[in-house]
Amino acid sequence: MAKKTVADIDVQGKKVLMRCDFNVPMDEDCNITSDDRIVKALPTIKKILDGGGALILMSHLGRPKGQRNEKMSLAPVTKRLSELLGQEVSFAEDCIGPETKAKVQSLASGDCMLLENLRFHKEETIKDKAAKEDAQLRQAKDDFAKQLADLADIYVDDAFGTAHRDNASMYTVPALMEGKPRVIGFLIEKELKFLGETLSNPERPFVAILGGVKVSDKIGVIENLIDKVDRIIIGGAMAYTFLKGRGKNIGKSLCENDFIDEGQKLLDQAAEVGCEVVLPVDHQVVRELKPGAPHRIAVGDIDPGYQAVDIGPIAAQMFAQKIVDAKTIVWNGPMGVFEIPPFDEGTKAVALAVVEATAKGARSIIGGGDSAAAVKKLGLEDKISHISTGGGASLEFLEGKKFKCLEILDEKDTD
Ligand code: 3PG
Repeated sequence: MAKKTVADIDVQGKKVLMRCDFNVPMDEDCNITSDDRIVKALPTIKKILDGGGALILMSHLGRPKGQRNEKMSLAPVTKRLSELLGQEVSFAEDCIGPETKAKVQSLASGDCMLLENLRFHKEETIKDKAAKEDAQLRQAKDDFAKQLADLADIYVDDAFGTAHRDNASMYTVPALMEGKPRVIGFLIEKELKFLGETLSNPERPFVAILGGVKVSDKIGVIENLIDKVDRIIIGGAMAYTFLKGRGKNIGKSLCENDFIDEGQKLLDQAAEVGCEVVLPVDHQVVRELKPGAPHRIAVGDIDPGYQAVDIGPIAAQMFAQKIVDAKTIVWNGPMGVFEIPPFDEGTKAVALAVVEATAKGARSIIGGGDSAAAVKKLGLEDKISHISTGGGASLEFLEGKKFKCLEILDEKDTD
């Protein structure tokens, strides 16, 4: 069932509390290095302000573990948001408390305010499971959430990147606002549409490209995709857990020994349902991982003392061939240590193949996180159908998990 969006409600004269994911990357001096997540929240923000709502934005930034930490303040986001909106956005130095309440009360129609980092309060990240087992924790989480819930007449969730978390602002706050309108924003609507339609109705061939460090992070995704996709291409450090299971020498490449058996079971499962799994046949290897490290290509086995840091040129060509004829592509995780050139070559080859397939009409989706960063670094983001703002969230979506925080929001009227 489709969820109600901000387009379905009247916000005129109402206080609107909107959860965003403004967890943006920053440098040492707290300069925002990518404002992508702020830019992508703008359509919902503008819709509410143009509709005459008084908007209270809330978000987390980083993992301050319940402590105030100026390095993780949302003040720089307020400044950037003001520039992008062309209107002053005010800032509340705490997300709860009497001063914040007073500031919210003085907001007029069309005003916009951002609350300080929710995670400066430890109650924001108390897990629901822990709260269920411990009455004190439950009370603390509820009290914190109630202060947020009491600020507004309407709840809007546009924080796709945080949709897999049971943070107080994501679930407890809307739960406490039962009876008031609780809707999604345009960013979440777009993410759910792209990811949902792609998985449920893919044009074929449907190819999944998985990379990154840990197999353990991607087991659920592989399990869920095996009977949906035609091909799974596996690169990055996670490939070596599979290769070791297949009896290859992997030198001192990263390997999750506890997951070797599970990895082999997945390969057997894939073979049973006719899903092709493609693993690298050659590798860029180094003795020591550091910028400028001497490197060479290992075909097949990797000598002791060497570590794989990228797929090799034969694998890059093979992967590209298996991608360019695809009609649907999902990609999560880089093929190597793309932050240290030239170990970005494999990721680059895959990115170019995804771009070529997209230009020929494929629908391509890149999960957030490292693969999104790699594509942006290569300046190819405009040539991809959809780059998700959610790293962990898009992975959990690909695993087929339901987002509890979205389930409680209002559904569209059926008539
Ligand atoms: C993200 O960047 O993936 C989201 O903002 C969630 O952040 P978290 O992993 O710290 O909950």
